[in-house]
Amino acid sequence: MLELKNISKTFSTGFIPKKVTALNSLSLFVNPGEVYAFLGPNGAGKTTTIKIILGIVSANSGSIKINGVDFKDRKSRQNIGYLPDQPYFYDDLTPVEYLKFTGKLYGMSGNEIKQKTEELLELVGLKGKEKQRLRSYSRGMLQRLGMAQALIHDPKLLILDEPMTGLDPVGRKEFRDLILSLKERGKTIFFSSHILADAEMISDRVGILHRGKLVRETELFELQNEKNRSLEIAFQFFSGQDVPANKPPLEIELFDQSGIIHINDQNSVFDAVHWVEESGGTILSISPKRKSLEDIFLEEMKN
Ligand SMILES: Nc1ncnc2c1ncn2[C@@H]1O[C@H](COP(=O)(O)OP(=O)(O)O)[C@@H](O)[C@H]1O
Ligand SMILES: [Mg+2]
Repeated sequence: MLELKNISKTFSTGFIPKKVTALNSLSLFVNPGEVYAFLGPNGAGKTTTIKIILGIVSANSGSIKINGVDFKDRKSRQNIGYLPDQPYFYDDLTPVEYLKFTGKLYGMSGNEIKQKTEELLELVGLKGKEKQRLRSYSRGMLQRLGMAQALIHDPKLLILDEPMTGLDPVGRKEFRDLILSLKERGKTIFFSSHILADAEMISDRVGILHRGKLVRETELFELQNEKNRSLEIAFQFFSGQDVPANKPPLEIELFDQSGIIHINDQNSVFDAVHWVEESGGTILSISPKRKSLEDIFLEEMKN
């Protein structure tokens, strides 16, 4: 549905021009029907990538195909719905007027717009709020209206730039559910984020961008398998007993008379349990260690 090949972009800024490399030979693809999370810290190059896909910013080199159509061809953008990182809404309009305005920009007829508006307000959960002016809308409601706007011309691919940033937990949950219901309707969704937990809950694949380079691209289930490879063994020595001095070569975190052994290699589980029991300690629990997307993200940042 979306394929980027070796996209590079440098900006030159300042009075005495200085070159900033925003993207360095970025390649990635998004399959039809997939939810792809494009992750990276601020300044990584996410917005620049999105603007290049949309033709708002031009790349120095590289090529892009959208649903098989070259991005230099204007027709490629007929299949994209876009929600910018800082969408602008006209305060004085009602949602119905706002969607009429965007529908007209896409050259839709009055009848088509009317039909779509009704369907989309229902879909994004704004039914019953049609009469309110946007001035009175919450951030979450505006963001859902932004999604309706992106969907008005029934695109196959949705590109959302930090759609959940600035939303409260309820707003985030509603937005995640909305993304999943669009996936069910067969849409392909590419969204950028630095909110890793949101990505973990809804995406099929993630790409991690750091200083304009894709440092990691993986399927979410692979990350989840990685999580299960490590274990934590919690133990305790009851009062009067000292933690033995002869510690095995394991990663042990001690807190007075209790501790946690971090196991990264299944073979050392036995050694750990053996050591605790031999020393007169008690095993409190053995649990799989959850390696979050954040852990993986931080590991990549270090490299
Ligand atoms: N119009 C521009 N002029 C100069 N530098 C820019 C411009 N847009 C982005 N940059 C720089 O490119 C880098 C990537 O920015 P951006 O794509 O906005 O990152 P992200 O969306 O991941 O936070 C940053 O160093 C930013 O300062
Ligand atoms: Mg950005």
